[in-house]
Amino acid sequence: MKRNLLIFVTLAAILSTAYAMGVLPKSATNAVSHTLHRSVNPGPLSAAHANLGDNCQACHTPVMGVDTAKCILCHANNESILQRQPTAFHASVGTCKQCHLEHQGLDANLSEMDHSLLTSIGMKAMQNAEAGTEEASAYNMLVDKLRLASPPHERISLQESVLDCASCHSNDDQHQSLFGGDCAQCHATNRWTIPEFKHPSTSSTDCNQCHQAPPSHYMMHFKMISAKVAGKPHARVEQCHQCHQTTSWNDIKRAGWYKHH
Ligand code: HEC
Ligand code: HEC
Ligand code: HEC
Ligand code: HEC
Ligand code: HEC
Ligand code: HEC
Ligand code: HEC
Repeated sequence: MKRNLLIFVTLAAILSTAYAMGVLPKSATNAVSHTLHRSVNPGPLSAAHANLGDNCQACHTPVMGVDTAKCILCHANNESILQRQPTAFHASVGTCKQCHLEHQGLDANLSEMDHSLLTSIGMKAMQNAEAGTEEASAYNMLVDKLRLASPPHERISLQESVLDCASCHSNDDQHQSLFGGDCAQCHATNRWTIPEFKHPSTSSTDCNQCHQAPPSHYMMHFKMISAKVAGKPHARVEQCHQCHQTTSWNDIKRAGWYKHH
């Protein structure tokens, strides 16, 4: 796993660079042109867009179909999506309809994340890179990887696993970076919990391999308060198991529930 990690991250970082550089064509998927048949009524619009009613042209352009430019026209200034780490990719994504399905009715959920779509979009953006450039070799390596490799575990697809998860989710990291940035090594893309994970028993002495102590443990506070509360004046910080249970960090051996203010 270690050996692959580096390749993963290197490639993925470059894949995500495609977003950072804004090289994504603004109309990537509109290339698949199709005719809008006025006679077809595919179903009522979502509540958010219900007021657009019969104004089909608000989102559709004849021949092209759903027109990304029209979505952007109304939504370009949505600061909250552009500023949140996981949704900042909106600045350069170039297509909307795969993740924002319409005509599903008033109650339908209008936003549905599709991680593998991000990979296709990134690949498409890189495929015409000039031969000999870093981007072109990154593209070729990704193509090989997507053809030959297998996913890190069965809860994630290979297509999804080449993404640089940390570029969008480092703020969600519960592991204080101890597990690195390649979240795909262990996680799926639909939920962070891992059904088959069993936490090591409370008698484990390896707690510090997976957990980082808070800053207060490296200050006077540790000797003066924490160690005394736990009745272990000589324990070193790395020996979490001397003082902690696995139920909660505030559940202290011998002292019970403890929370200082
Ligand atoms: C708020 C934007 C919006 C409005 C307004 C809207 N549509 Fe759509 N429409 C979409 C999106 C997005 C899709 C693609 C959804 C999908 O693939 O599930 C779509 C898909 C369709 C499709 C299926 C074929 C295709 O282009 O993918 C038809 C037909 C269609 N719309 C017709 C209409 C008609 C007729 C109206 C007016 C009565 C209308 N739409 C109004 C957003 C809109
Ligand atoms: C004529 C302007 C207009 C167009 C065109 C338009 N929208 Fe909207 N959209 C709105 C308004 C107004 C709202 C509701 C207020 C808000 O949340 O900003 C909304 C809401 C949304 C929401 C949030 C829904 C929620 O859960 O609250 C999404 C996602 C969205 N639009 C995506 C799209 C996409 C994708 C397209 C193109 C297919 C599109 N919009 C076209 C005006 C527009
Ligand atoms: C790869 C999937 C994906 C693509 C492509 C995508 N979005 Fe989104 N978008 C999302 C997701 C997921 C959310 C919901 C984020 C959240 O609520 O945490 C979102 C949120 C939004 C919102 C805010 C909704 C709200 O609740 O306020 C708007 C507006 C929006 N997108 C518009 C667009 C437009 C316009 C495009 C095309 C330029 C687009 N999106 C392309 C996945 C996507
Ligand atoms: C370009 C940005 C981007 C990348 C890269 C990305 N994600 Fe996401 N991810 C999102 C967005 C947007 C959502 C929707 C929820 C939100 O807004 O936080 C999401 C949702 C998730 C969720 C569900 C969170 C929840 O609580 O519902 C998980 C789990 C997840 N991603 C894991 C991953 C993993 C693992 C990777 C790497 C293989 C990855 N993501 C790569 C943007 C991204
Ligand atoms: C070496 C494996 C590994 C890596 C790499 C990893 N995690 Fe985890 N993560 C886990 C395990 C195991 C759990 C516990 C899952 C459970 O309790 O179901 C977890 C739990 C989480 C949770 C809390 C889930 C919950 O709701 O209880 C989040 C959020 C999370 N990880 C985010 C990340 C992010 C973001 C990354 C990448 C920056 C990452 N993880 C990298 C193994 C890993
Ligand atoms: C193999 C890695 C691993 C080892 C060893 C390990 N843990 Fe964990 N532990 C995790 C992961 C992953 C989570 C879930 C993500 C998170 O909350 O950090 C977790 C969660 C916890 C939580 C819950 C945090 C919360 O607020 O919900 C506590 C408390 C905890 N561990 C204590 C311990 C103690 C004490 C030890 C040693 C006896 C230990 N752990 C050993 C991986 C490990
Ligand atoms: C000598 C005993 C002792 C050792 C060793 C120890 N802790 Fe603690 N820790 C405590 C006590 C007591 C508290 C309760 C609050 C306080 O004193 O800061 C605590 C609090 C915490 C908290 C909660 C902080 C908060 O702000 O709520 C975390 C997280 C934590 N410890 C993690 C660790 C980890 C990880 C290790 C090992 C790398 C570790 N501790 C080693 C005694 C210890």
